[in-house]
Amino acid sequence: MATEVLYQVSSTPEKMVRAAANRLLAQIECAVNERGVARIAISGGETPRPLFELLANLGEPYAKSIPWAHLELYWVDERCVPPDQPDSNYRMTREAMLTKILLPEDQIFRMEGELDPAEASTRYEATIRRQFQLKDSEVPVFDAISLGMGDDGHTASLFPHTAALHEQRHLVVANHVPQKDTWRITLTLPVLLAARDVSFLIQGAVKAQVLKDVLLGPYDPEKYPSQLIQPASGKLVLLLDEAAAAGLPPVGEDGWGQLEIAR
Ligand code: 6PG
Repeated sequence: MATEVLYQVSSTPEKMVRAAANRLLAQIECAVNERGVARIAISGGETPRPLFELLANLGEPYAKSIPWAHLELYWVDERCVPPDQPDSNYRMTREAMLTKILLPEDQIFRMEGELDPAEASTRYEATIRRQFQLKDSEVPVFDAISLGMGDDGHTASLFPHTAALHEQRHLVVANHVPQKDTWRITLTLPVLLAARDVSFLIQGAVKAQVLKDVLLGPYDPEKYPSQLIQPASGKLVLLLDEAAAAGLPPVGEDGWGQLEIAR
């Protein structure tokens, strides 16, 4: 199956973040207009922090434009730590955004990193099944899933050579990551691929080589799990800054590039 990869290159990280905010606002508005609710899953790490700060900034249009009352917020993955720990993706999001906007607590679906990993993943899967009103083998269709990419080519908590790469039955799993000697909770590939919109937000020169390897190098998903992100929609969007895009073909006048990847 071929994937159309569209990548937007912004001259600075700040412009990349604003492009991501504009895109997310449009996706949320579209989902709410069409279905009355927008269900989005966000990643952690450091790249999205300025995006969340921008969305919550009352001096910017997003905080007052996003229909928070109709938004359900989920996470793509979480570290197995309590929500008040520095490593927690939830804590980062809370500090950057959640304490500043009017998103009702019962519309925020936190992965419970403080629990036993298997229990936390089972509970999160049950939450998703309930909220999406899924029948047995159905997979949830998020309106938007925003991914990051590690400099090792991982995405979500799908790390190279780990068991979760092969999970096709569960929606959420606990994944042991020997490289970090830790456990993670992560959405699985079937969920990531089913979303109406799947995008990566990738910034910085440190990601340039791995992004080039993922997109243009040999297909080796055990080594580069991000290569597995071939959305069912047939389309994958990357929002990049110039530094991260350094290894990719030049973009057009509109700042967008396009690749057709058949794997
Ligand atoms: C996490 C993320 C992870 C992240 C990448 C990139 O829990 O760390 O969900 O998949 O997106 O590791 O992280 P940075 O944005 O910090 O480079």
